[in-house]
Amino acid sequence: MHKARQDVAGLEPAVVITGGSRGIGLALARRFLEAGHKTAIVARNGVRLAEASAALKEETGADAVAILCDVSEANAIDVISAALARSGLYLDVLVNNAGLGLAGPFVEQSETELSALVALNIETVTRLTRAALPAMLARGQGGVLNIASLGASVPGPNQSAYYASKAYVVSLTEAIASEIAGQGVRMSALLPGPVNTSFHEEMGAERSLYRYVLPPMSPEGVARSAYRGFMWGNRVIVPGILNRFFYIALRFLPHVLTVPMMHWLLRRPHTLSGP
Ligand SMILES: NC(=O)c1ccc[n+]([C@@H]2O[C@H](COP(=O)([O-])OP(=O)(O)OC[C@H]3O[C@@H](n4cnc5c(N)ncnc54)[C@H](OP(=O)(O)O)[C@@H]3O)[C@@H](O)[C@H]2O)c1
Repeated sequence: MHKARQDVAGLEPAVVITGGSRGIGLALARRFLEAGHKTAIVARNGVRLAEASAALKEETGADAVAILCDVSEANAIDVISAALARSGLYLDVLVNNAGLGLAGPFVEQSETELSALVALNIETVTRLTRAALPAMLARGQGGVLNIASLGASVPGPNQSAYYASKAYVVSLTEAIASEIAGQGVRMSALLPGPVNTSFHEEMGAERSLYRYVLPPMSPEGVARSAYRGFMWGNRVIVPGILNRFFYIALRFLPHVLTVPMMHWLLRRPHTLSGP
């Protein structure tokens, strides 16, 4: 513990949010900054990253460190750590938020698209969590907040790989949380239902039925719930009352009912093959 603290002597603890330049990640950055945490946002598009950082400064009065990095690259943790050290910071809380969606029938998705999804949603979350946790445990503080999805609770026909990847994130998070319990390090999974961000449009799902049927939350509402749940040390955080109802229902209803229902909700206008 002593050596671990010495390693970061003179540095301040920071929250690092992957995919913090827009959507849920940006709202989380705002929430952490408002609560007084030193915060860094990570993304690939430098222009949007700089705009996000400037907007955060204007809204909160605090500086967010902008780190230009593709977190699915193998050296991402080194790039992040080096950028933090240059700003007099060290990684205290890791928010694995950057994620990729893919809509449409599985057989129509290319191997390249599927590999990119697995690389970001599964491999990157695993690698960054593994890289960050030992020092957190040695210091007995900090934590990891993994952004999963309510979709983790059920198979998602027409977004099959995406839903499966989020099920992995929740399982990994809950299992590690159990392994490290009592050592002062938080480990949470956030399971938002639909949120109003560009995510759906980017994966070509904006006109899917669920976008009309399920009321979306704002990124700010999700961030408030996430921050509160993480600070309380909740292992699974489901933002919104309606989503908590769905979360419970999805755990108890049999797949023979819920999978066709999801198939219907996730169907895109031109995907006429039903359940
Ligand atoms: N929106 C929803 O309805 C919803 C619901 C449940 C769960 N989620 C989950 O919430 C998370 C955030 O979703 P969102 O809706 O806020 O997404 P979004 O609006 O599309 O934002 C994605 C963010 O991730 C960054 N990003 C993407 N790939 C990256 C990479 N390889 N390296 C670094 N940054 C990367 C993007 O910036 P650059 O493109 O510049 O890199 C952007 O800042 C995702 O994990 C998603 O699965 C979303």
